[in-house]
Amino acid sequence: MQEPEHLPPRPGSIAAILPAAGSGRRFGSHHNKLFALLAGKPLWYHAAFRLRRCSLVGRMVMPVAAADRPFFEGEFAALVSELEVELVEGGEQRTDSVAAGLRQLSGDESIRLVAVHDAARPLVGDADLQSVFAVASQTGAAILAAPVAGTIKRVIGQSDCQTVDRRDLWTALTPQVFRPDLLKLAYEKHRGRPATDDAELVERIGHSVSIVKGSANNLKITLPEDLLLAEAILSQQADHA
Ligand code: CTP
Ligand code: MG
Repeated sequence: MQEPEHLPPRPGSIAAILPAAGSGRRFGSHHNKLFALLAGKPLWYHAAFRLRRCSLVGRMVMPVAAADRPFFEGEFAALVSELEVELVEGGEQRTDSVAAGLRQLSGDESIRLVAVHDAARPLVGDADLQSVFAVASQTGAAILAAPVAGTIKRVIGQSDCQTVDRRDLWTALTPQVFRPDLLKLAYEKHRGRPATDDAELVERIGHSVSIVKGSANNLKITLPEDLLLAEAILSQQADHA
């Protein structure tokens, strides 16, 4: 029997995919940026830990690059097993990695929602997780996003620009949370056209995606200076815990 969609998800019924198979080119370190330490633990661990401590989350799949696998099965093996993370091989593009995660989860009928969360976002807060999970369980597709803070200009030609009304502009964050059948269909229809997030693929199949306001503290580590900011946010979160 199909469960009514409006029921809140049961403990363990949300599966997470944590894409971690990038190379961190812009971060510029010798290893994957996700190995960089924040408060003594690698970035990927923080992201996975914050999902693991949410009781709604059950299976957690992490696509990793073949070249990084020896690290996850070596020096990180204890952390991987502590958080019960299933490792799979990622792909060339982020969408290939998420697709590999989805294949790993296929056939598991107990999954009510799939949450895709960048392993490079170590600071997602529990209240934001609860909000996006609640809305996704109502609408089938919801993402965390933060209102655009700066003044945005559209450049026209060589020496002119226009100010864009930012009131309806949002920066997409993760997790991005979907009913499994929707995300699967979105990926089946994808066929390689570039997309910057999972919600874009779901939009393309004509399903609306709900925006849930999340904290801008849920930053993605892209450049080395982002790590300094993350240290500051983490110590402030610890003060208020
Ligand atoms: N990712 C992935 N598979 C890829 C590319 C990216 O799983 N082929 C993951 C990254 O590991 C990261 C997340 O997707 O956790 C967001 O991507 P991004 O921040 O762009 O990380 P990288 O691609 O590693 O960084 P860069 O673009 O600077 O190389
Ligand atoms: Mg990238």
